[in-house]
Parts: sequence; C-alpha cells; structure tokens
Amino acid sequence: MLDGERGEGVRFAMEVVTRVGDIYGAEKLVQISSSHVLGHYSSLHDAGVEMMERFTGSKASFRVPTTVDPISIEPERWRDLKIQSSYAEKQMRLTNALMGLGVIPSFTCTPYECCNVPRHGEILAWSESSAVAYVNSIVGAKTNRLTAGLDVSCAITGLTPYFGLLIPENRFGQVLIEVKKRKLGNLHFHTIGYIIGKTVGNRIPVVTGLPLDAKNYQLKGLASAAASSGSVALFHAVGISPDARNVDQAFGPNELEDKIVIDESGIREAEDEITTSRENPDFVAIGCPHYSIPELIELAHMVKGKRVKRNVEFWVYTSKHVAAYIREMGILQTIEASGIRVLTSTCAVISPIKEWGFKVMMTNSAKFANVIPSEHKIDVYYAPLKDLIEYATKGE
Ligand code: F3S
Repeated sequence: MLDGERGEGVRFAMEVVTRVGDIYGAEKLVQISSSHVLGHYSSLHDAGVEMMERFTGSKASFRVPTTVDPISIEPERWRDLKIQSSYAEKQMRLTNALMGLGVIPSFTCTPYECCNVPRHGEILAWSESSAVAYVNSIVGAKTNRLTAGLDVSCAITGLTPYFGLLIPENRFGQVLIEVKKRKLGNLHFHTIGYIIGKTVGNRIPVVTGLPLDAKNYQLKGLASAAASSGSVALFHAVGISPDARNVDQAFGPNELEDKIVIDESGIREAEDEITTSRENPDFVAIGCPHYSIPELIELAHMVKGKRVKRNVEFWVYTSKHVAAYIREMGILQTIEASGIRVLTSTCAVISPIKEWGFKVMMTNSAKFANVIPSEHKIDVYYAPLKDLIEYATKGE
C-alpha cells in the first residue's frame, strides 16, 4: 500500500496511518472490524472536503464497514433552518465524497444502536468521543479516540496502529469513583459523567454505585458527558461493563491513584456550575447524543396534547432511521403536533445555528451544555426534560 500499488489514495491513507503509528511508538498495525468517521463540514472545513474528494478521485474505498457521524445540515430540510446554500453545498460535496468511498450513510453519533454494532473485544478505528467512550466502556470493544483524517485513513487501509487503548494493559482503571446517590434520574447520569470527566481528565475511572439496571441511553449520556468535559475514552462501570465484573478486575494490576465520591450535593453543585443563565431561554434542544426510540417514546408521552409557545424553538435531534421508525409508529406525529421539530442527521453543535440569534439554550444534555457556550456563544440552562417541557409549553 505504501508503495502506491493500490493507487495514490490508499498510499496517502497508509502514510497517515504509519506516521501516526510512529508518533505513538506503535510496534505494529492491526486489522480493524469497523470504522466510524467524522464528516461534518463545521470541523473539516474546505481542507477536509478537498482531502475526501482526493481519496474518492483516486478510487480509494473503505475496506471495512464504516459509518459516519452527524453532518452540519439536515439533508432534506436545510433551507428551513436558515442555512446558506454555499455552506450546504460544501457539506453536500463532503457527503458525496464519503458516499464515493462507500460509507454507510448513518449520520448519527450513536451507530452502536443501529448499523455499526461492535462486539466485545473487537478492534475498531472510531472517532466521535461519545461513541468511543460508549463502545469501549459498555460494549468492551477496543478503539482509540481518533481524529478526523486518521479515522478515514484507517477505514481505507483496514488497519490501525497498535497503541493506547488497543493494548489490554492500558485498559485497567486508575481512579475510583464512588457514586453515593440512590435513585438516579436521566439527568443525573449526564451530570455524573460531567463530574467524572472534569475530575479524571484522561485517566481511566472505575465507577461504583451505578444501578445495574441502568438503561443504555442513560449510560450513553454518562459516556458523552465524561468524554466532553474531560477526555475520557474508557470508564469501567462496575457490574455493568463487561471487563469490570468487580473492582479488582477493573483495576487489574494498577495501584489506586485517587478516590472521588459523587454524592447528592456534588451533583447539585455540578448542575449549578453547568448552567450559565436562567434568563428566558429561547431555544430548547435535546438529543445529544442522538435520541433513541425509547427516549422518543418517553418524549411523546410527555408532550402529548401540549403546545410549544410561540417565542421558543424546541428541537430534538435523532438519526434518520430512528425517525423513520417513530414515524411508522405514529410517535413522530405526536411530537411534531406539539410544535417540536424532529431534526435528523445533524445536531446543534456542528450546524450553523448562529442565524437564529438564540440567546439561551435550555437542554438536558451535559455535552450540549458543555460545548454550546464556547462553540456558538449561547448561554445554557441545564435541567431535566420535564422542566424543559414545562417551560416550553407553559402559558400556551
Ligand atoms: Fe452527537 Fe452532536 Fe452530541 S454529534 S454527541 S448530538 S454534540
């Protein structure tokens, strides 16, 4: 591949993979089962479009099943969302180039729920920090947190450098997190993830005290928050993660570096810290990570018969395949009848929402709350879903 026998695109991809391997001191390259790549214009910019088109132009293609993260526009309805056509056109070029490489058009940050479902122990080359944290921690697959460009190069070569979290000895816990709060609601999982990320940085936390019957979407919320407020790419939820049946297994030969307790008051403090303003939110956004079917069923129950007030936009983000299912189930219609927009294949962080002039976003996602103020200069009000609905529909 490096000699260019399979074309310039493959040669370039292999050069990227081997150079990164050299930087990290990888002793070898290993085969991957799947890849998940970034494809949004807001991060890849013109250079990303050109790189992707060069790959496609040289007849390179993905050698393993490869899904793609949300993109910067809603493909069908971007005109309704105040997006400039020159911007949409760049995103469409990027999308077309990825399609030329053979990407599975998932456009979601939760591919592990649908169309790219890894198994325990599989080696992957994934980007998207929330998905990386989830598949490493809850599924027990192995991937480093890749960057744009390296993800695509691994998918084209079918190989990834053997370093970091691919090596079993690097996956043991370092910091003990004791959750001492009973009855955790959905928001608490996000908040706990936020606290963990802030506290441990890039060390590997071992978390005790989470309910063993925690829902997948609650763990997804925790993973996304920890990956966003810190750079957690792997955590062990004792009794839940496949490689952490107990604390000893999770730590392996490692010495305990630190112990942190998360209790009721710590959770309340963190929730106050995340909120930057409670002044008249004009935008309510949920679905970070992308909402799953159970979450949308719950939302439909909660908003049935209610109506979002005129001066508030209320958007929920999900994937297009989940939207297709809930449309068939009649749930999407119930949600839309309340005035909530169901947006697919994109999200508030990576799309140009500036044109709307929002001042304060209300959200139940710690990742949205963590990223939106710096990304879009919008304040955030972090609260549970029932508060969001009550605020958005009150007085209508
Ligand atoms: Fe997904 Fe966007 Fe959140 S990509 S994890 S909805 S910031």
